[in-house]
Amino acid sequence: MDSERLHPSIATPLGRELQAQSHQWTKSSLMYPIFITDEAGAKVKLGGMPNQYRWGVDRLEEFLKPLVQRGLRSVILFGVPVLKDKDPVGSLADDPQGPVIQAIQKLRELFPNLYIAADVCLCEYTSHGHCGILYENGTVDNQKSIDRLADVAVAYAKAGAHCVAPSDMMDNRIGAMHQKLVEADLRDKTTLMSYSAKFASSMYGPFREAVGSAPSFGDRRCYQLPANARGLARRAIQRDVREGADIIMVKPGLPYLDVLGDARELAPDHPRAVYQVSGEYATIHAAAAAGVGDFKALVQETMTSMVRAGASLILTYFTPELLQWLDDDEKK
Ligand code: PBG
Ligand code: ZN
Repeated sequence: MDSERLHPSIATPLGRELQAQSHQWTKSSLMYPIFITDEAGAKVKLGGMPNQYRWGVDRLEEFLKPLVQRGLRSVILFGVPVLKDKDPVGSLADDPQGPVIQAIQKLRELFPNLYIAADVCLCEYTSHGHCGILYENGTVDNQKSIDRLADVAVAYAKAGAHCVAPSDMMDNRIGAMHQKLVEADLRDKTTLMSYSAKFASSMYGPFREAVGSAPSFGDRRCYQLPANARGLARRAIQRDVREGADIIMVKPGLPYLDVLGDARELAPDHPRAVYQVSGEYATIHAAAAAGVGDFKALVQETMTSMVRAGASLILTYFTPELLQWLDDDEKK
């Protein structure tokens, strides 16, 4: 299979930096997950996630300009459509007027040096809230799902995303995306970051509330990995490498550092990402508020731990604070 490509990994300055096998986290290690809505003028506070908002595309400049000035290198986009009706195939995911495609185009224009990743999934856009397309009986139609997800990935790449990051956990979606990106002649400049080992976790609650993606029936246990499934995670990582992933992700972060260690062993020559998810973020805020420990020290220790276990890129909602602290520490 035509899957091993090196050019996507070196198509951007950040991509080239991530090839260094560093043991220190820096500003380049931070990818900030942000929520974009189709509501013009919106800046809506997210219930379970202190200091996080969903933003209208027209307010992205005011939101991100100060962060870019402070050294923000990359973002990952999540779309939260609120104006139009959702359908069973998630048509809003790649609606040219939808929040993600509009935001990609806007951000490329506003911040030419910002690395733009787009999360690829259907759950924010489907009427049933599942991450794929379903058979009539409510179970996942894997083939239809990966065909559709690959089309969405191509649409984001076409709009200008440097990186597409499928979080759906359907079988063989990396191969499908790789193939459709090749056919669209976009593969060489598009990084494929796979949420390879994504677990069915109880720590996604605040995120699902933020984007309105809780499934309307059932749960995600037939496509996300069981918490105890270290073997399946290892197989998923190896499979995604074979299918052509450029970056391998583990999610959530802290409770799954052994899996991140496995990723370092199984994919030693790939950059590895880890997602410190909404529940981890909310937990640390709650712990600090309860006096368990110092907020900055708690957050920084999690960063150090994730890098120690093998992460080169960390998706974290603490990115704004971490950028500020790196500057503060430099001045000392
Ligand atoms: C959806 C998706 C989820 C997250 C990222 N993409 C939630 C889920 O799988 O239900 C979680 C992120 C977070 O909790 O911060 N595919
Ligand atoms: Zn999903």
